[in-house]
Amino acid sequence: MQILTTAAELQAYTEQARQAGQRIGLVPTMGALHAGHLQLVQAARAECNEVVATIFVNPTQFNNAEDFRLYPRVPEADAALLAPAGCTALFVPSVEEMYPRPPVLRFDFGDLERVMEGAHRPGHFNGVATVVSKLFHLARPHRAYFGQKDWQQVAVIRQLVADLSFDLEIVACPTIREADGLAMSSRNRRLDPAARAAAPLLHQVLAAAAAQVRQGVPPAQVRAAAEATLAHEPLVTPEYVEVADAQTLQPLENYAPGRAVVLCLAAHLGGVRLIDNVVVVR
Ligand code: PAJ
Repeated sequence: MQILTTAAELQAYTEQARQAGQRIGLVPTMGALHAGHLQLVQAARAECNEVVATIFVNPTQFNNAEDFRLYPRVPEADAALLAPAGCTALFVPSVEEMYPRPPVLRFDFGDLERVMEGAHRPGHFNGVATVVSKLFHLARPHRAYFGQKDWQQVAVIRQLVADLSFDLEIVACPTIREADGLAMSSRNRRLDPAARAAAPLLHQVLAAAAAQVRQGVPPAQVRAAAEATLAHEPLVTPEYVEVADAQTLQPLENYAPGRAVVLCLAAHLGGVRLIDNVVVVR
């Protein structure tokens, strides 16, 4: 596995692979890798000749300086996981390398980002779109792999690709969970034992809500029931619970026939912010 640290090295590496007729898969990450990330690498390995993973804790997408500072960084452990999973090159740039000058361009994804993560983390998707655009330009992948764990991020990136005519295919992979249902996340490492023990409640609430959606319980009632269950657990501070259209991400008042529903939530557990979602195809 090649380790690349400069934009020029990434460009040269992927350009050479392209010239040789290789298909390039890109897996952008912020590191502290787990099985959710590795699944993306494995999916890329199955479909592409070159698998370029990137690890960059992107400052422009953090709206909370403390969250950025405390974000887990374990570069050696990450590198040791990537090669056996099929990664052929790892791009680990510095902040100065990615942002030689502060970016001025601002992305606005309209209604897609006026809800959930976009509404609760101002500027977050601007930062995501900025760094993902840079990575797409530098690596020019044929395919780029993202996780459904971040459902709204996938929707925003699909919009980015459509609006800016990036010549690549987005592949969305399912959410990988711990045995007790907790969605894997780099931030789970920061949970203390009590918060970790309470954390499976997030998925339990979503699973119960999904069952209600299948039974046709109205969205407002599903949301209220989920909020009430979360409010019962003193270690969990819910930020939002949404019952939304899975494509447009707009909150639902009623179910529309034939349209998938996404149930999303964000909550704080002992100072750590976690998100999760489940999709219900009705
Ligand atoms: P990060 O949180 O490191 O996640 C990298 C990729 O792994 C994302 O596409 C995310 O959805 C996926 N992922 C994380 N946990 C997962 C899980 N449990 N199951 C399946 N996929 C999972 O998302 C980011 O980084 C950043 O915003 C990034 C896209 C790299 C831009 O900086």
